[in-house]
Amino acid sequence: MNKFYLTTPIYYVNSYPHLGHLYTTLVADTIARYKRQRGFDVFFLTGTDEHGLNIERAANQAGLPVKEHVDRIVNSFKTAFAPYHITNDHWVRTTDEYHRQSVATFWQKAMDAGYIYKDHYEGWYCANCNNFYTESEAKAGADGALLCPSHDRPLDRVKEESYFFRLSAFRDSLLDHYEKYPDFIRPEARRNEVISFVKGELNDLSVSRVSVKWGIPVPNDPAHTIYVWFDALANYLTAIGFANEHLGGEEHYRKFWPADLHLVGKDILRFHSVYWPAFLMAAGIELPKTVFSHGMWLSGGRKMSKTLGNVVDLGILQKYFQRDSVRYFCLREMVFGQDGDFTYESLLERVNGDLASGLGNLASRTLTMVRNFRNGEIPEAGKANAALIDQANVVRDAVRQAFVEFDREFDQYNFSRGLEAAWAAIARVDKFISDAKPWDLAKKPDESQALDLVLRTSTEALHHLTTLLAPALPESTQSIWEQLGESGAVKDVNPASLTWNDRGAGKKIGEIKPIFPRLDKKKIMDEIKQIEATPQETEAKSPVGISYINIDDFSKVELRAAEILTAERVPKSDKLLRMTVDLAEPKPRQLLAGIAQYYDPEKLVGRKVIVVANLEPRKLRGFESQGMILAASVGDEGRPVLAGFVEDVPNGAKLK
Ligand code: MSP
Repeated sequence: MNKFYLTTPIYYVNSYPHLGHLYTTLVADTIARYKRQRGFDVFFLTGTDEHGLNIERAANQAGLPVKEHVDRIVNSFKTAFAPYHITNDHWVRTTDEYHRQSVATFWQKAMDAGYIYKDHYEGWYCANCNNFYTESEAKAGADGALLCPSHDRPLDRVKEESYFFRLSAFRDSLLDHYEKYPDFIRPEARRNEVISFVKGELNDLSVSRVSVKWGIPVPNDPAHTIYVWFDALANYLTAIGFANEHLGGEEHYRKFWPADLHLVGKDILRFHSVYWPAFLMAAGIELPKTVFSHGMWLSGGRKMSKTLGNVVDLGILQKYFQRDSVRYFCLREMVFGQDGDFTYESLLERVNGDLASGLGNLASRTLTMVRNFRNGEIPEAGKANAALIDQANVVRDAVRQAFVEFDREFDQYNFSRGLEAAWAAIARVDKFISDAKPWDLAKKPDESQALDLVLRTSTEALHHLTTLLAPALPESTQSIWEQLGESGAVKDVNPASLTWNDRGAGKKIGEIKPIFPRLDKKKIMDEIKQIEATPQETEAKSPVGISYINIDDFSKVELRAAEILTAERVPKSDKLLRMTVDLAEPKPRQLLAGIAQYYDPEKLVGRKVIVVANLEPRKLRGFESQGMILAASVGDEGRPVLAGFVEDVPNGAKLK
């Protein structure tokens, strides 16, 4: 049996999932289903990228231990994907123990081969994309600061001891590989970009950081943490059993490596088509067969990103659209490899046009006729006049042609064109029904054979197209399958196993259910606009970027000036201080704050601070904290600096 190993990028847990993430996952899932249906032994991997400075910072901001923080976000990814019935065989987490161990082995192999050396790094770094930038690559900010060209955020100046990967040594081998295997980077246009990049100056790459702690330590030098991309890319090996016992270890790894397809967004192509093959060559490991780079979903003309605040909310998609509609839209609307603009209007048009009026209508009219005219039983093809037989043959040929084109296009990852081919056949069957007018034939007893041929041909076409479309519309095709009276799972029926008119006749159809009901475009658009204008709870919880709240939200928080009356350490805790504070209330309040490592309790007495006065009380180490003191979180370690006033203010004064 042919194997097929495909991967999505592993998603950063510095942001909650949005359509951009779901997109790659849906496409990968469709390919996995497509290959499985055609008899391949598929291994489909997805997962999460959980190390790095940015994640450490976000956890500090959220006031959580880093692992707890990443667990929450990983869960939100899993929950976001779950309704879409993603059929991944494994979910890799870079915090998994087997991954951490095998990354160290992978590193050691490259090191033993002489491709990793120690030196000093000085340069600019973006913690958001975990990438190093030269001054010429960086963007200039209004105040002269250097900004990340992708995130528009200030770059960090990094000056530290670092291990380097000898990327420069791989220039010729990479170029040879691109030349010898034209399918290694796809599509063609992107391949050319990568080739020009590699032909330019290819500098050695800093692959460790001493200032980042949240990651995998360098073997035998734990003061250094392995660069997050070195760690992340290795997931494609570690998750299938490279240098570990996971999933059967070596045997499993030998079965599936090299990967047949890495799906990646164009923003991370360089990591996958330059760094990754070079790391693999250094470790003496075979290279993957294809890295396919897809385009970006834009929203309002810009790449969708949480930082820009223009992401398509998965909650809205869930609320108004069937899962298959979202999947179909992703595959059909965007030419795979190019950027596409997302609008709810175009999604609604695809649903009403292609799905409701196309496949949905064909299914419901065909099945309804079988129910009404033949008591729910699919007839044998009747003997009709030559003209009608010709027409039925045209339908059969159109479906056969769709089968050939669909596979040809899907094999090349041209999903949009593959679906167009299937829809051309749907239109042909529709025309056949409209031309033959079965509702008229049904009124004439001597046309009974002709009616049988029309019904037989259209159910057969529906049967075929349902099978063909199963990877792209998994839920609705299963429903049509059952309505056609079939049992089992359509996803397991190989389209190549079907022959025209070989099954179905004499079969009782199932209960008819609407597949894609038409959506009320105006009503849904109005509602979506309203939701978008209202800040969402999930947005407010976002660990990165700014999410706006309105004045009503702000006014829910009661901030007051308060004076610290007493302060002492909490026994057996190095972090907590217990204080009493005066808010000009009948009794002082007791507050706990995690500032003991930075503030001497004696020196705090008499100090004016800002307190969130209406925070639900909670117990910490057996003491009730009746509010929260505000502090800035400073530096990588999140050092608290208490907020206060320059001028004097009375206790209890309200901040607004
Ligand atoms: N963690 C790295 C990948 C490491 S793989 C060894 C990463 N993560 S990410 O979460 O930022 O992005 C994951 C994928 O989502 C990328 O392929 C990226 O292109 C894709 N998308 C993020 N936003 C997108 C759109 N707006 N549109 C389409 N895909 C987008 O990069």
